[in-house]
Amino acid sequence: MYCQCMTSKPFVTMLGRLSLWLSPNIQRLILILMLSVLLYLGVLVSYFWLCEDENFVRSISANILVPAKSKNQDDSSSLLVYNVNMNLNNNSNMSERAVRIHYYNPPEWVGRDTFKKCPQNCLISFGKEYKKYSTSQFVIFDGNGNLPKEPPPKQSGQVWIYHSLEPPFLQPRLHKWNRKINWTISYRRDADFTHVYGTMLFKKVKDTERVKLRSNWEDKTHGNAWFVSHRNVPSRRAEFARKLNKSINVDIYSRTGPSRCPTNAIQNCDQLLSEKYKFYLSFENDLCRDYVTEKCFKIYASKVDVIPVVRGVPDYSIFAPPHSYIDTTKFNDISSLGAFQKGLANNQTEFENYFQWRKFYYNEPTGDRAICRLCAHAHRATNYQRLYENLDTWVHGDQGNPMCRKVTDIE
Ligand SMILES: *[C@@H]1O[C@H](CO)[C@@H](O)[C@H](O)[C@H]1NC(C)=O
Ligand SMILES: *[C@@H]1O[C@H](CO)[C@@H](O)[C@H](O)[C@H]1NC(C)=O
Ligand SMILES: *[C@@H]1O[C@H](CO)[C@@H](O)[C@H](O)[C@H]1NC(C)=O
Ligand SMILES: *[C@@H]1O[C@H](CO)[C@@H](O)[C@H](O)[C@H]1NC(C)=O
Ligand SMILES: *[C@@H]1O[C@H](CO)[C@@H](O)[C@H](O)[C@H]1NC(C)=O
Repeated sequence: MYCQCMTSKPFVTMLGRLSLWLSPNIQRLILILMLSVLLYLGVLVSYFWLCEDENFVRSISANILVPAKSKNQDDSSSLLVYNVNMNLNNNSNMSERAVRIHYYNPPEWVGRDTFKKCPQNCLISFGKEYKKYSTSQFVIFDGNGNLPKEPPPKQSGQVWIYHSLEPPFLQPRLHKWNRKINWTISYRRDADFTHVYGTMLFKKVKDTERVKLRSNWEDKTHGNAWFVSHRNVPSRRAEFARKLNKSINVDIYSRTGPSRCPTNAIQNCDQLLSEKYKFYLSFENDLCRDYVTEKCFKIYASKVDVIPVVRGVPDYSIFAPPHSYIDTTKFNDISSLGAFQKGLANNQTEFENYFQWRKFYYNEPTGDRAICRLCAHAHRATNYQRLYENLDTWVHGDQGNPMCRKVTDIE
């Protein structure tokens, strides 16, 4: 913008006229003087401009007490929505200084190397002792059973982060946590840092050949495989599976049986799935806004020849390629779902149509991106001011804004 002003036409013409009656040396002097004045003005203007802008950002964000209204879970059918939102700010190498982020009650999977893979430099420390967490500007709280009902004392200037990847029924009630939490990490799309287990990406070079199964069609004699550890959950998925079992078989795999994987190794289990089964049940344990389990993504990542059968609230077209899964909510009842599956199970061509997405997409595991975005934001926290007025309602919803849905598809 400023460059344009300096080289604009009137300025050049003016210089031309001056040059007619001044000696070359004086011309040069005047030119230098004028350029310095312009430069000075430019610096001054841009300084005020930028400062104003920052104040402006600060003033609007100061008003955000509650994060932006949660998006309607069905409002987006763009498969790659997370690619857009989750790009790390990679040009910000502004700080080589490490930022310390303290984890108050870390879950098992959080360790010393949590931030290791992030482009920005963040260190982690742990523990509930006041002298440990009070000296860190950033403190993460995991929404599990370890979380105290009453928040501990918060130092002024601290940024507190609430972290949970579980559906609401596995999170504690948070009535006492009003106006304490600045940022959230969640599977929710309206969280500050959204965590997803995988992202589908477009292949740069599309395949042109029709995709064939890797497994042998004749050997795939079984219908649904269901890997499940907890059956008594709010979504009542066991009842659903039992009813589906009347139309097309559902084999239950769990650590205690009835069926088990050949070994504990995931590859062996995947191989068994691919060789014998046609469908894979990926039923959520609760029917909640945006909630999708890791399970569904595993199928896309593992390249197993089974069609995922999903049952949850989200529009799965956000996460998964078109014509790559069966959504139980699109059927009037369980027996029509069963009949549809049977139709596919008996027609290799139609079954294989569910794998043609492999021509266009591939799966990229993105498990640690949310945590890296947190790290990146920690390096410029003043630009990202927030405060959750009512964390309990944000997590659990309330009557006017229910977070989870009642089961209506069994009876
Ligand atoms: C960020 O940039 C560096 C070098 O510029 C590159 O090596 C790295 O892969 C980038 N990270 C991401 C997540 O894009
Ligand atoms: C950041 O800057 C340092 C030097 O200041 C450089 O060595 C490093 O490669 C840069 N990292 C990225 C990701 O650009
Ligand atoms: C379906 O029926 C079979 C045999 O009757 C049984 O072994 C299996 O556990 C049943 N599956 C479910 C989900 O109830
Ligand atoms: C399988 O489906 C295809 C495409 O819908 C159809 O043309 C074909 O007749 C079906 N085959 C059988 C055996 O039903
Ligand atoms: C975090 O919350 C505190 C209030 O507890 C507030 O003063 C501070 O500005 C917030 N910081 C950010 C980065 O949101």
